[in-house]
Amino acid sequence: MRHGMSRRELLVAGGAGATLLAAGGYGISKLLAGDPPAGSSHELVVRATTGDVELGSKTATTWTYDGALPGRELRARQGEPVAVRLVNDLPEPTSIHWHGIRLENSMDGVPGMTQDPVDPGDEFVYEFVPPDAGTFFFHTHVGTQLDRGLYAPLVVEPRRERLSYESEQILMLDDWLDGIESNPDAKLAELQGSGMEGMDMGSGGDGSGGMDMEGMSMDVMRGGREHTGLDGGPAARGSLARLANDLERGALDPGDVPDYPLYLINGRPPEDPFQIVIGKGERMRLRLINPSADTIYCLFIEDHELEIVSADGNDVVPRRTDAILIGMGERYDALLDGRGGGASRVVAMPLGKQGVAAGYLRYRGSTGAAPPMNAPIEMPVRVASYGDLQPLDPASSSAGDPRVIRLDLGFDDPYSWSIGGQLFDGSDPIRVARGETVRFTMKNRTPMPHPMHLHGHSFTVGGPGGPLKDTALAIPRRELTLDWVADNPGVWAYHCHNVYHQESGMMRRVEVV
Ligand code: C2O
Ligand code: CU
Repeated sequence: MRHGMSRRELLVAGGAGATLLAAGGYGISKLLAGDPPAGSSHELVVRATTGDVELGSKTATTWTYDGALPGRELRARQGEPVAVRLVNDLPEPTSIHWHGIRLENSMDGVPGMTQDPVDPGDEFVYEFVPPDAGTFFFHTHVGTQLDRGLYAPLVVEPRRERLSYESEQILMLDDWLDGIESNPDAKLAELQGSGMEGMDMGSGGDGSGGMDMEGMSMDVMRGGREHTGLDGGPAARGSLARLANDLERGALDPGDVPDYPLYLINGRPPEDPFQIVIGKGERMRLRLINPSADTIYCLFIEDHELEIVSADGNDVVPRRTDAILIGMGERYDALLDGRGGGASRVVAMPLGKQGVAAGYLRYRGSTGAAPPMNAPIEMPVRVASYGDLQPLDPASSSAGDPRVIRLDLGFDDPYSWSIGGQLFDGSDPIRVARGETVRFTMKNRTPMPHPMHLHGHSFTVGGPGGPLKDTALAIPRRELTLDWVADNPGVWAYHCHNVYHQESGMMRRVEVV
């Protein structure tokens, strides 16, 4: 029985064997930008549309770009123009935000701030020149639409690639309920209608063991090991390793939707697992993107190390780790060396929640059965934190004497989330002079982590020498500092990337004038 699978394993893994044999050539279909012949219009079309997606044994009616989940990958080149025509076939207004791209304000895709919403039946052409290479994504910026399927990867290729690797793979992680259980608007109404009692404040998961609802949600036994820092020592206070431990043991609140029926890797649940194919001795670049609405993951590949080379599209001094903690809106690039054999599970553990996003890493040419999806998972030990990352180019880290702007994060009943004591509606704009160096200092006065995202700029996390990012997790009861140079004029959104928080006050306008 060494390579055999029990009936239950087969049910849970959902015909993984067949997928493993067939999936050698899987790739996300691509939209290629760049090199438009001068004078011609080389325009890509992205259609926001309603339709069905297959999620393992279930079909969900939802909203996607072009019927694909995730939407087709957009490939652009650093410094070369991109033109995308958004066609809105949805029953509601929508827009596209180019998350992490330091573009011109009018193309940023925030209705009510940088453009009018694109009404049903209408179109809007986005044109910009991406100044930075790296891993980005694009998504709707209207209401709770992000918790449907309106997201896709955006990769900007550098003028000259500095890293060497043989292959690359994008992994997009998602928490899914739309069309399976409820929908994001109903979820928001439920949250806004509930008081603190309904919110599971500070209690974490319900501890109800593994669940397997109609074969959909899948849980695995999680090893009881505590995450450590990269040095193997106990997770330091304020580190992401410590955050992972605190979320897993229920000491902090993981999010407002503890019961997503599915977690996906590239649109695939564990019962129909996504598969990465690698050759022995091959080096692969992974591009990790978390477009989830409410879920922070700890991502790892069993029996493999990951080498972080970039954070939110900004190169960092390479660091080896076992696992990467990734909040909503964050991206990491990591190199993976094909030093194993057979197949290993790729696991993205939704921290503090039941269920798992999981797929396989499969060695090309190997024929054995993959490990069953539901086998107990030993959580890896070392988790990288922001403090472990330094910009590859030290000059890109903030310098100088910032003007400090205090913007504590708060919660109030009924369900509302604030920045600097203000809810978005009617809030004061945060005014910054063009060229000014600014420090946002935030104490998170809530029991939940918030991935804070600034549009149109990058910031240095945790003071001089810290990594350059555009989204960073504010850890409960800790202070987070984001230093940035206001070099991009316009009106920019600054918000929590939890879509339910963003829709319940946790956003501000930043005016760079
Ligand atoms: Cu990806 Cu305003 O967000
Ligand atoms: Cu939040």
